Amino acid sequence: MLSWPAMLLGGLLLMVATMTVAQRRGQGAGARRQRHRVQHGQCSYTFLLPEPEPCPPEPEAFRGSNSLQRDSPATALNLGDWPTQRVQHLEKVLENNTKWLQKLERYIQRNLRSELAQAQQHIVQNQTATMLELGTSLLNQTTAQTRKLTAMEAQVLNQTSRMEIQMLETSLSTNKLEKQLLLQGHELHRLQGHNSALETRVQALETKQQAELASLRGEKERLQRLLSRQNGALAGLERSLRIASSNSSLLQHQQSQLLESVQRLVRVAAQDPASMRAAEQVFQDCAEIQRFGANASGIYTIHVANMTEPRKVFCDMDASGGGWTLIQRRVNGSVNFQRNWKDYKQGFGDLAGEHWLGNELVHQLTSRTAYSLRVELQDWEGNEAHAQYEHFQLGSEGQLYRLSLSGYSGSAGRQSSLVLQGTNFSTRDADNDNCLCKCAQMLSGGWWFDACGLSNLNGIYYPARRHLRKLNGIRWHYFQGPSYSLRAARMMVRPVGV
Ligand SMILES: *[C@@H]1O[C@H](CO)[C@@H](O)[C@H](O)[C@H]1NC(C)=O
Ligand SMILES: *[C@@H]1O[C@H](CO)[C@@H](O)[C@H](O)[C@H]1NC(C)=O
Ligand SMILES: *[C@@H]1O[C@H](CO)[C@@H](O)[C@H](O)[C@H]1NC(C)=O
Ligand SMILES: *[C@@H]1O[C@H](CO)[C@@H](O)[C@H](O)[C@H]1NC(C)=O
Ligand SMILES: *[C@@H]1O[C@H](CO)[C@@H](O)[C@H](O)[C@H]1NC(C)=O
Ligand SMILES: *[C@@H]1O[C@H](CO)[C@@H](O)[C@H](O)[C@H]1NC(C)=O
Ligand SMILES: *[C@@H]1O[C@H](CO)[C@@H](O)[C@H](O)[C@H]1NC(C)=O
Ligand SMILES: *[C@@H]1O[C@H](CO)[C@@H](O)[C@H](O)[C@H]1NC(C)=O
Ligand SMILES: *[C@@H]1O[C@H](CO)[C@@H](O)[C@H](O)[C@H]1NC(C)=O
Repeated sequence: MLSWPAMLLGGLLLMVATMTVAQRRGQGAGARRQRHRVQHGQCSYTFLLPEPEPCPPEPEAFRGSNSLQRDSPATALNLGDWPTQRVQHLEKVLENNTKWLQKLERYIQRNLRSELAQAQQHIVQNQTATMLELGTSLLNQTTAQTRKLTAMEAQVLNQTSRMEIQMLETSLSTNKLEKQLLLQGHELHRLQGHNSALETRVQALETKQQAELASLRGEKERLQRLLSRQNGALAGLERSLRIASSNSSLLQHQQSQLLESVQRLVRVAAQDPASMRAAEQVFQDCAEIQRFGANASGIYTIHVANMTEPRKVFCDMDASGGGWTLIQRRVNGSVNFQRNWKDYKQGFGDLAGEHWLGNELVHQLTSRTAYSLRVELQDWEGNEAHAQYEHFQLGSEGQLYRLSLSGYSGSAGRQSSLVLQGTNFSTRDADNDNCLCKCAQMLSGGWWFDACGLSNLNGIYYPARRHLRKLNGIRWHYFQGPSYSLRAARMMVRPVGV
């Protein structure tokens, strides 16, 4: 941009300088036509300067002033003052030319300077603008990058904090897991201990069951033998019945005797109606007393056939229709039930509280007519249950007071907890059970132990909170299980059909 005017200026200056030099040379060396050429790039400029040759003295010729070219050679005529004049003229022309050139120079210089200044200003402005633009864009970029950086920093901080939080949580949960693991380990240990205890118990139960199975098999055989023996006895009975029926005169005699005694009783009653004591002498059991009119539970006297002495008994006139003769009661552990055969035969305890009526009396009572048995039970949670047997009979002492039951019903389990037929009575000094062991000594009290059976209402009385896991307590398997010692129990009898 700048090069062209600069070149032009340079060229012009060069031309002026050359012209001046040429004119001076011409003054010295003689006038000659001179041609000057200036080469600039592809362009060339040619300047033709007037020659200082002797010209014919034609004043008009100088009027033309600028007619610098003269082809024809000057002819030497009239050469008086002419050279002086001519020199002066030439000097003027030169002066004029010089002035003109100087003017031109000045003009060009002015023009160029203003243009140059303008160009410089433009450039400076443009550069300033560009610089400003660059600066703003730089600033913009810097701010954008700063913003990005701060955002990134925030993100990094956020992630770091998040990771820290996560790490904290992880460590917390790890702690928790460790604790749980420890607890589970303890539990496992405990369970293992428990398991081994259970295993030993299961083994013990298995051996016991096998023993029971063996005893059951023995009992079955025994029952079969008994059945055949009973068949024999039945045949004998039939024979004696036939004999008895043939001899009715004896019966008639007995009947008349009975009639007589009844009439005697009626007489006694008529003579002294207020006296119950006399009448009591002939009551067989509580059912008869109830039929006579007494309706309050309590102690009464009865006289059982074949028993030499009258006996006091407790009569329950309330339970299930009343008329029950109690043969056993447990209520608070006040009486010791760990007794021998003789005690259980004769009876013991307090009729108003805990007692055992006596095997002999019960045998006599239940051999005369058909009796039913009722067993009432109470646990420590206040639950009550009963077991009832439609038929109940106790064998003689010679038969070891063996038990005969049938017709079970009641709420103390769907099954009877007493073996129904043929179990002999055992005490600690009379081992009549079906076990190789001695059940009465192991489980205490006197009872119809089998081997050793599912019940024992004459076991040791355990008070509240000590009644669990007691094999020698007061048990009734189908009510509260094999090792639960009950709170209270009663056994009572009443003739069938009352
Ligand atoms: C110088 O030249 C100009 C025109 O170029 C002319 O008008 C003027 O008269 C001349 N002056 C002299 C002294 O020759
Ligand atoms: C200034 O710069 C712009 C582009 O950046 C250009 O178009 C313009 O011709 C320049 N002006 C001058 C005087 O250099
Ligand atoms: C600066 O950046 C903003 C957006 O980030 C843009 O709109 C603006 O034109 C930029 N300015 C310059 C001078 O680059
Ligand atoms: C971290 O960034 C998330 C979004 O990505 C936002 O919900 C959270 O509030 C931020 N947390 C902090 C501490 O800045
Ligand atoms: C029938 O009874 C009488 C008198 O009680 C007795 O003498 C007789 O032996 C009895 N007859 C039989 C067959 O038992
Ligand atoms: C018991 O008998 C007496 C009279 O002997 C009578 O007053 C009373 O109401 C009877 N009570 C019951 C529960 O039968
Ligand atoms: C009662 O005594 C008589 C004679 O003493 C006897 O034959 C009978 O078998 C006895 N009854 C009972 C149940 O023991
Ligand atoms: C047990 O019960 C009977 C009858 O209820 C009572 O007479 C006796 O005092 C009681 N004994 C104890 C030790 O509670
Ligand atoms: C009960 O005793 C009798 C003997 O009186 C005996 O024959 C019988 O086998 C015994 N019963 C059991 C189950 O042991």
